[in-house]
Amino acid sequence: MKRRIALRRYAYFLMALAILCESALLAAQSVARQASDPPAALGDTPTDKQVREKVEGLLRQMTLEEKVAQLSQLPGMDVPEFKENVNKSAEDVLKHLGAGSMLWVSDPKEINRLQHVAVEQSRLHIPVLFGLDVIHGYHTIFPAPIAMASSWDPKMVEEAQTVAANEARAAGIHWTFAPMVDIARDARWGRMVEGAGEDPYLGAAMARAQVQGFQGRRQLGAPDRVLACVKHFAGYGAADGGRDYDSSYVPEEEMWNVYLPPFKAALDAGVGSVMSAYMDLNDVPASGNPWLLHEVLRSSWDFKGFVVSDAFAVKSLVTHGYARDLQDAAHKAFTAGLTMDMASGTYLKYLPIEVQQGRISVRQIDDAVRTVLETKIRMGLFQHPYTDESRLDPTLNDPAHQEMARRAVKRSVVLLRNEGGLLPLDKSGKTIHSIAVIGPLGDTEVDLLSMWGGAVKAGATVSILQGIEEKVGSTARVAFSHGPHLRRNIPSPFENIDLLKALKEQPEQTPQEAQKAIDEAVSLARQSDVAVVVLGEIDLMSAESASRSSLKLSNGQEELLEAVSATGKPVVLVLVNGRPLDISWAAEHVPAILEAWYPGSQGGNGIADILFGDANPSGHLPVSWPRSTGQLPIYYNHNLTQLPETSSDFKSRYWDIRSTPLYPFGFGLSYTTFAFDNLKVTSTAQMGSAIEVSADVTNTGGRAGDAVIQLYIHQRAGSASRPVRQLKGFERVALEPGANHTVHFKLGKDELQFWSPLEKKWVVEPEQFDVWVGDNSSAAMHGEFRLTQ
Ligand code: NOJ
Repeated sequence: MKRRIALRRYAYFLMALAILCESALLAAQSVARQASDPPAALGDTPTDKQVREKVEGLLRQMTLEEKVAQLSQLPGMDVPEFKENVNKSAEDVLKHLGAGSMLWVSDPKEINRLQHVAVEQSRLHIPVLFGLDVIHGYHTIFPAPIAMASSWDPKMVEEAQTVAANEARAAGIHWTFAPMVDIARDARWGRMVEGAGEDPYLGAAMARAQVQGFQGRRQLGAPDRVLACVKHFAGYGAADGGRDYDSSYVPEEEMWNVYLPPFKAALDAGVGSVMSAYMDLNDVPASGNPWLLHEVLRSSWDFKGFVVSDAFAVKSLVTHGYARDLQDAAHKAFTAGLTMDMASGTYLKYLPIEVQQGRISVRQIDDAVRTVLETKIRMGLFQHPYTDESRLDPTLNDPAHQEMARRAVKRSVVLLRNEGGLLPLDKSGKTIHSIAVIGPLGDTEVDLLSMWGGAVKAGATVSILQGIEEKVGSTARVAFSHGPHLRRNIPSPFENIDLLKALKEQPEQTPQEAQKAIDEAVSLARQSDVAVVVLGEIDLMSAESASRSSLKLSNGQEELLEAVSATGKPVVLVLVNGRPLDISWAAEHVPAILEAWYPGSQGGNGIADILFGDANPSGHLPVSWPRSTGQLPIYYNHNLTQLPETSSDFKSRYWDIRSTPLYPFGFGLSYTTFAFDNLKVTSTAQMGSAIEVSADVTNTGGRAGDAVIQLYIHQRAGSASRPVRQLKGFERVALEPGANHTVHFKLGKDELQFWSPLEKKWVVEPEQFDVWVGDNSSAAMHGEFRLTQ
């Protein structure tokens, strides 16, 4: 209970951050100046030798307390967890000891002011790394990560995170706590929205792209990039019952085969830091877990960067019942391999004591400090500790950023249903003279941004109503009806946040008022040629600490949809949400369904582009879409069962629904159609050589569109049961009507190996394999090959 209260409090603080920093700023004098003299001469890209010398030079001068301060991330605001451990303000610590990092400061002036304190007032003038959750944008907010994963377009994702990095760096932020790469197979878990969904292969591609976008493809230190932090290491998405922060139990083979590959991909792309997760993994909290932090990360993967805890997670080792007291927590986290304590001040207070008592050596401390100092040097912080505030406005207001955000929406939206070709809608004024935009998410801005988009310095956002109005101009009358209130009855730790105050003030509705709102919407639909009904989840419903026990459209939304549909008018359902929802009724009765996710700043424009055919939807689901909450967890890459649903008598089944998902992983429609044929597969190959697969895809419809071609394999026998299908390749290709393209894939060791629970290692086995190519995980075009010794 205590822990829950602490977490709620923490969550509140986190979201309140932006606002508090703003007020702190008013009080603070702006002392921002351009870069002062560098404390030591380093080239813009220092050599390894220079880095080493600089680090060793500093280490020789540092006291134990100063070293431990480098292993501490100070909260940029008052938090009780920190105060209880450290009897000083964060700023005092900064002044007297310096610090590894500060977080939750988002304002450039305040960042510069605090950096001046560190660089000018601390004894060794070591600059601070400023960290913030820039998850899918700082000012220009891109679609939420699950949406970007739906694009199956790593290049676009890399470009989006390049923009995010550029804006964040202009604001003085050096370090983002992203990408979040947790595999999520259970949509009850509210943080599914922050990752790339259920698949390790797609997840790895998205992890790589995001790291490259944030950090750049070369070494750290570019002035318009930030340090990335892959999180939450590891297994966080497997929380029992989808309840955020609850224990995960994941067998080792599943860790290696499913949960760890996106982390490894981020490391291979050069990610400089890793964040440990909150929860117990197989009974050992991830933030004090030697198997994760030492054996996997350092021994198997040779990671040379540093590991930060999640917020207060070192202190929470006591709450977990893993550490006896806070000193034991510091000991367990540090010796497990956790470099930096986020915000709890536990290291600051107890690591010096641990050294004095001989339980941790100075050498161990030095090894950890080295990784932090090295990062700061490579990031160029010693030469350029401050941000140039004059760069801020032009960077944030670069129109190209908005253009890219709009393009990202168009490439992310998933068309789930389009009976009778209802979409795209006519905007010429010939057939549609009036449009009803209906629903609680139809004219909202903050909800399009998602939780993290709202927690940074988001710029203007285009609502879906605004986007539609702008698109049709005077050719059709557009009117809006809100329907029942969605914001109420959702207990959330974030509800007191100023950003959401206006919405919070929306009064609670009585059932009669809610019915009246539905009646108004119905009456508007009756007077219109088409109804665009925008439903789903407010931003905080799919977020941290936002698990759901039911995926149904809540708060009268289902009733609203059914009532509007009963008018007989054509209905387009647009979903704004962060996880699959239970839309079984809509999937049978609503002719057009568009999954928009949280589309970000340009959401309204991008969705209007799709609705009216200026863009052709091309997103594909990065998660299996359940028929009902009771199917969870659901994922396409499960193992075979001896009696599948298709067999007779005893079989794997539910009494009430089919076992299959409503929409399979990888699924997405287009306004055109694609045909796949001519699958060619190397029939036999010796282990060690690659299998070549090719296939043709043709645009058989009347519009240009992008196909997302996917390759799946299945190993028929071996030292372990293997999943029915596994994604092992994909390509997104633009095709004009009638055009075709031959796609080529190679299946080598990386694609064919798996971690065998019998062998306890990675193996490639000489076996028979199936191959499928198509545009979702149920693709029918089949081939096979054999690997020989
Ligand atoms: C808690 C969240 O779990 C994590 O994702 C985030 O990066 C940190 N807080 C910092 O805000």
